[in-house]
Amino acid sequence: MCGIVGIVGRHSVSQRLLEALKRLEYRGYDSAGIATISGGRLERCRAQGKLVNLEMRLEQQPLNGMIGIGHTRWATHGAPTERNAHPHIVDGIAVVHNGIIENFAELKAELEATGADFETSTDSEVVAHLLAKSRRGGMSGREAMHAMLKRLKGAFSLAILFQDEPATIMAARNGPPLVIGHGDGEMFLGSDPITLAPLTNEVTYLVDGDWAVIEKTDFRIFDSEGNVVARPRHTSMASVDRVTKGDYDHFMQKEIYEQPEVIAGALARHIDIASNRAVQVSTELNFANVSSLVISACGTAYLAGLIGKYWFERYARLSVEIDVASEFRYRDIPLSPHAAALFISQSGETADTLASMRYCKAQGLKVGAVVNTSESTIAREADVIFPILAGPEIGVASTKAFTCQLAVLAALAIGAGKARGTITEDEERQLVMSLIEMPRIMRRVLRNIRPKIELLSKELSGYSHALFLGRGTSFPLAMEGALKLKEISYIHAEGYAAGELKHGPIALVDKNMPVIIIAPHDRFFDKTVSNMQEVAARGGRVILLTDESGAARSKLDTIHTVVLPDVEEIIAPIIFSLPLQLLAYYVAVTKGTDVDQPRNLAKSVTVE
Ligand code: G6P
Repeated sequence: MCGIVGIVGRHSVSQRLLEALKRLEYRGYDSAGIATISGGRLERCRAQGKLVNLEMRLEQQPLNGMIGIGHTRWATHGAPTERNAHPHIVDGIAVVHNGIIENFAELKAELEATGADFETSTDSEVVAHLLAKSRRGGMSGREAMHAMLKRLKGAFSLAILFQDEPATIMAARNGPPLVIGHGDGEMFLGSDPITLAPLTNEVTYLVDGDWAVIEKTDFRIFDSEGNVVARPRHTSMASVDRVTKGDYDHFMQKEIYEQPEVIAGALARHIDIASNRAVQVSTELNFANVSSLVISACGTAYLAGLIGKYWFERYARLSVEIDVASEFRYRDIPLSPHAAALFISQSGETADTLASMRYCKAQGLKVGAVVNTSESTIAREADVIFPILAGPEIGVASTKAFTCQLAVLAALAIGAGKARGTITEDEERQLVMSLIEMPRIMRRVLRNIRPKIELLSKELSGYSHALFLGRGTSFPLAMEGALKLKEISYIHAEGYAAGELKHGPIALVDKNMPVIIIAPHDRFFDKTVSNMQEVAARGGRVILLTDESGAARSKLDTIHTVVLPDVEEIIAPIIFSLPLQLLAYYVAVTKGTDVDQPRNLAKSVTVE
């Protein structure tokens, strides 16, 4: 979603702002802009579309100045046009905004009634008009900020330049994250530490309700009442070296292929490789004493949670309530304070997941965060963090974060089973040994299946729809396979429980409907194969993902079969993720879509 950057520098800022915006690209955006103050005047450059357009504009019309703000916009209110791109400027005040001003219509009507002339159809422009009105009434920049923030409802982070206070950036946070970076005689502002990584690793996070006045060598943070507050300074681990594509064509491809390595690292944190035992990561959340488990997340992280539910129920005999966070937060669910809650989030900033976590905390539940970004808001507010250690994930379509989330959830479920006495020591050892073996198997699978998947993807790219079917943990995996395909190739795809085929989706099956069936040779295999026969009998194009034992038993002429090695049931969802990811990837490459930044999608969804 929208990204913010700001620099109060010792030398020219526009090129550095542009470079920082490039580091925000992965979040998803559809227009961008920069404003600087030079010679006491605001200068602005904006462009619709990708940053290369802004870059070209800046070449024709360079911006001077040693102070400036920049923005990548993911449109919420108003089309992604240049006119709607940020910064918005009103009476010498430039504003960039990430989030949604929920009461903007009311504020806009009020401002228009007193003569304000709006140029854009964004919610964000009200911020500039509110500030301008206060300034006209004689307030200083600081006073205007304080007054404006009292009027806003919703989620926002803001960076603001006042032309007549040319040494200061003002910033505010209520929802989407914002960090102040400490430089050498310079100060920075950014949506996340990666934005600032080459400039500084010394950062201070604003907390919700904070606003700040940032100067070249100094800054002050205020709370919502206007009192000066101190916030701790951190050394961020973010590094730009970790966010390059290397020899790969796309970040997504790189992230698919680095899974064996990162998963091994994630597992090392959660299992003891020497003794083949699960490690108790925290004493804060003891699964032995909880009455049930609540899981919530969004998107791919939710689907990881759904697979986790099967594991916690099976191995730890814990009943699991799970829902997408956008529903969970409003359902008014009766929750026992003896339950524990897990929130899964790659970014650690997803607005609905964060709100669901806060809801559970307020109900007295112990909350754990399965997160990739340990400096994120969700990580900082959780009682316990279970890091997935996937490293920066740049491709919008999640791959390595998903499998690392699964690996951590599997290890947690085994640990919970041990703590609750629902698995024996022997079973624990067997399960852990399967996890330990997994990176090696993943490496082999990634090496071997590519030619077959590339071939299949050529065929699949010619269709407009696809169905994915599976049972047990292969059901959420079918949904994830469908999600991956639709996200990056724009082919309409649905994931269904194979047993639901006859309750609707079979009506869609004909020769134009490829059906991807995920069927490891597990206790559901025969049933899933029956569903496959039903599809084949109706002329559907069957693509079977199975293992060696499954392939030996499923004799159908009409199918493409992708054969994976026989693996233990607990690791099957992770191993079977690989062909699904590669299939989506190669279909997208064949279709020539923007693999890493698919249209309309954002990596980090910081608004509802
Ligand atoms: C967006 C991303 C997905 C991600 C979801 C949840 O939709 O495009 O890849 O799964 O948000 O994000 P989170 O950061 O909370 O895992």
